[in-house]
Amino acid sequence: MADVLNHLANNLPRRKFDAVIVGAGGSGMRCSLQLAEAGYNVAVLSKVFPTRSHTVAAQGGIGASLGNMSEDNWYWHMFDTVKGSDYLGDQDAIEFMCREAPKVVYELEHFGMPFDRNPDGTIYQRPFGGHTANFGEKPVQRACAAADRTGHALLHTLYQRNVRARTQFFVEWMALDVIRDSEGDCVGVIALEMETGEVMILESKVTVFATGGAGRIWAASTNAFINTGDGMGMAARAGVPLEDMEFWQFHPTGVAGAGVLITEGVRGEGGILLNKHGERFMERYAPTLKDLAPRDFVSRSMDQEIKEGRGCGPDGDYVLLKLDHLGADTIMKRLPSIREIAIKFANVDPIKDPIPVVPTIHYQMGGIPTNYHGQVVAPAKGDPNHVVGGLYAIGECACVSVHGANRLGTNSLLDLLVFGRAAGNHIVASKLKDAEHKPLPKDGGDATLARLARLEGSTSGENSQEVANDIRRTMQTHCGVFRTSELLGQGVSRIMEIAARCADVHVKDKSKVFNTARVEALELDNLIETAKATIVSADARKESRGAHAHRDFPERDDKKWMKHSLWYSEGNRLDYKPVNLKPLTVETFEPKARTF
Ligand code: FUM
Repeated sequence: MADVLNHLANNLPRRKFDAVIVGAGGSGMRCSLQLAEAGYNVAVLSKVFPTRSHTVAAQGGIGASLGNMSEDNWYWHMFDTVKGSDYLGDQDAIEFMCREAPKVVYELEHFGMPFDRNPDGTIYQRPFGGHTANFGEKPVQRACAAADRTGHALLHTLYQRNVRARTQFFVEWMALDVIRDSEGDCVGVIALEMETGEVMILESKVTVFATGGAGRIWAASTNAFINTGDGMGMAARAGVPLEDMEFWQFHPTGVAGAGVLITEGVRGEGGILLNKHGERFMERYAPTLKDLAPRDFVSRSMDQEIKEGRGCGPDGDYVLLKLDHLGADTIMKRLPSIREIAIKFANVDPIKDPIPVVPTIHYQMGGIPTNYHGQVVAPAKGDPNHVVGGLYAIGECACVSVHGANRLGTNSLLDLLVFGRAAGNHIVASKLKDAEHKPLPKDGGDATLARLARLEGSTSGENSQEVANDIRRTMQTHCGVFRTSELLGQGVSRIMEIAARCADVHVKDKSKVFNTARVEALELDNLIETAKATIVSADARKESRGAHAHRDFPERDDKKWMKHSLWYSEGNRLDYKPVNLKPLTVETFEPKARTF
């Protein structure tokens, strides 16, 4: 069988590129732009048309200390990010990101991004959760916004610049696996054209994962259906560990029952959260920042209100987001999409009535371990910081780690711009373009072809969506806003049972146009790797930190748990590595109790 597959892999169509980027969201297109403008022959693979990538759903803004509304500086931004991360973020990478922030925003402005403007022509900035002046003293306006459609404006801007730079897009192509040679270096990817089922090898001198998150391992999520953890699945199958996967952010304001995002920008513009008594309960939990405390704080407070019987509606299972007092003009000018979403998904017009909201899965802080150049770092050959040759990861699929245990709102768009650009710059500086392509290993692609053959040959087994829905139900029940040892332990067993079923799914309707059934079955292999990594890492962490709130271990435990987790698919095992508390040029922000 292996020989036959090897023979098939050798006969697959092949193309050669200097760089292959998997994913056409903000980080992928920021990186491809940097490379294409430097003369690289760049291929970008995307499951959807580039401007439909999930970055398009980002609403509120990009964090950068421009100081357009009042005094601000990168050092305050760094402090907020470190404190927001519950001190699990690596301070070298955080310093790098916060220093670079104004530069990447001004670059976008010069690319033509249609930011909202102040009367003096400068970029409009709104307040956001956890953004403060003078080390927590008072809120500051740091989120650079294009109404409530910042991600949409950003993606369109980057796509147009890439077209101009002659980046080559492979639209509706799904990367299936990376190919590593005997030295462990990445030499390309094997990919599937979703419409025709054609499989091709794309050889590259450098491969960049920019595949986004895996929010679709949860039942209630603000994430697009394409967010199936493809980068994490490919990395895990290629022997690369996944870092800090226990940390998943619940966004406080998803539309109750629908999961659609209502931007934190609503609270930035002055919206407030109310319980069933009409009380602005965040004043009790976070007396200084109130509704604009970081997301882990606000989500837990909302959950507490609901659990203690102060939720709204017939079942008391949501709270209300009130914004009518902002006035129709502000809502129409600054939050037009939010009004549309509220009318369509909650049947309320926020100009008159509050929106029912619940904490909803939004973002993974963990991912593929990288340094702040975007290089994938996986312990090997006795080196804990071994760099995997030819492989980079950027954006939500990567763990740099700038978000630690809890990300600040607007730092995701910032992360993908800063590290997309930094990875591009690092590749250019490494002069990879001038290198020869490394030869493909003889068995390159075999394991992937075996996965495809299994699907084609299988006539029994379950439909992949039944299994995927079981993953989602299990994660939602066992790994929610508040976790317990009992729930997590049961969750680990359930996910392991489901993992065994994944090996036996079949493609129900092979004649489906665009091969959607086959694609969903392939995505399932990525969902399950991400779900295993998440629940196993969460079960092991016996403390509460950031988004990991453990009822049986309610305190942060810096002595035992100030460390990053590393989950390996092979053997389903965990390892740990230290947090880098040393910034590049400034003093360490020492861990402290977090109050807001
Ligand atoms: O609330 C929002 O607009 C989301 C922003 C973010 O996740 O950074």
